[in-house]
Amino acid sequence: MTDQLPAAQLAHIAATRHEGDAAFRVLSREDFANARAEITQWEGYAPTPLISLSALAKAISIGEVLYKDEGPRFGLGSFKALGGSYAALRVLQRQISAKLGQDVALADIRTGRYKDEAAQITLVSATDGNHGRSLAWGCQRFGAPCRIYIHAEVSEGRAEAMRDLGAEVIRISGDYDESVILAKSEAEENGWFVVSDTSWEGYSEPPRDVMAGYGVMTSEICEALPTAPSHVFLQGGVGGLAAGVVAGLRQHYGADAPRVVIVEPELAACLFESGRTGEATNFAIQEETLMAGLSCGEPSGMAWEILAEEASDFLTMPESIVAPTVRLLARPLEGDTAIEAGESAIAGLAALIAARQDAGLSEKLGLDAHSRVLLIGSEGVTDPAIFAQIMNGQDVV
Ligand SMILES: Cc1ncc(COP(=O)(O)O)c(C=O)c1O
Repeated sequence: MTDQLPAAQLAHIAATRHEGDAAFRVLSREDFANARAEITQWEGYAPTPLISLSALAKAISIGEVLYKDEGPRFGLGSFKALGGSYAALRVLQRQISAKLGQDVALADIRTGRYKDEAAQITLVSATDGNHGRSLAWGCQRFGAPCRIYIHAEVSEGRAEAMRDLGAEVIRISGDYDESVILAKSEAEENGWFVVSDTSWEGYSEPPRDVMAGYGVMTSEICEALPTAPSHVFLQGGVGGLAAGVVAGLRQHYGADAPRVVIVEPELAACLFESGRTGEATNFAIQEETLMAGLSCGEPSGMAWEILAEEASDFLTMPESIVAPTVRLLARPLEGDTAIEAGESAIAGLAALIAARQDAGLSEKLGLDAHSRVLLIGSEGVTDPAIFAQIMNGQDVV
């Protein structure tokens, strides 16, 4: 084992999986198929690369490490490009259809047939960056005004990227949860529409569409892999990414679907807590993690329904292995492709590497020299200033 590989103690819970059909019911085959049919028509659509990191696999004694690099997704820098934008289009479809008293097609909104109507519909969301960027981009494409609420810790680089896409960005002094509350209350007062990537009691359509959009990524993976990987390590914020991906994998591979390992920062471990208690459980965030996209204290109810049945293991990881893992991807072992990844992208990989250096944990996770592990590199360099700091050797914690 080379000392380039970041090591750490990870906390682990083996989940008691609930029985059920959430991977087919919460997100149906039709939800995924509709999203795919629409999104693959968008200008600039191209499948993202699925990269096999063989030198790394060899270094950690594992069969294969497969890294789906979402950095190039629609030029927006993350997998989130697939979710918020599609959910925005679907809100416009529902609202315009209701107003006109007839079903309108997504393609007609996309191509500007209803641009006067779309210009009257304001879409809002709270975000820590990537979801808001996707929503702002969708609104710009489909001609709807967009307001994004960000909390005190969201970097100015990320705020600027959303402004550049035409969104009005409102920064509050509180935390993420407070930005969610403000977005909701202002939407209610003004007749705007919240497009959130997380669900709550009575609010499920946009988050379902967001997860259905993520299915485009899963279908690209399934097409590229005739046989299922043995494991998938998925980083969790509210759980939408993980739930969207595992539902797609279950629908495609059936009983051969990979073992699902959820990875979160120690500082924001709401899914880990939910795995421990067996029900959706909040986590009180005391300090912000560097992995900004994973800084969520409250699981998405819909995502949890799927993960409660599909996730086998929950891990938390310390901040100390974030920067070294970003650097390892960017300056890879000889023979591997260099990948520029953001802080939230590498959680799954960081946890896999750490787990392979801990024989007891590897055994608990069923990892051995034959395992083929799928990872979602969920973002590229979405904040160049932070990336530069990391590459300059500063352990940004
Ligand atoms: C880059 C990145 N990875 C992973 C996630 C986690 O996704 P989710 O909140 O759906 O669990 C996010 C969420 O913002 C993200 O931006």
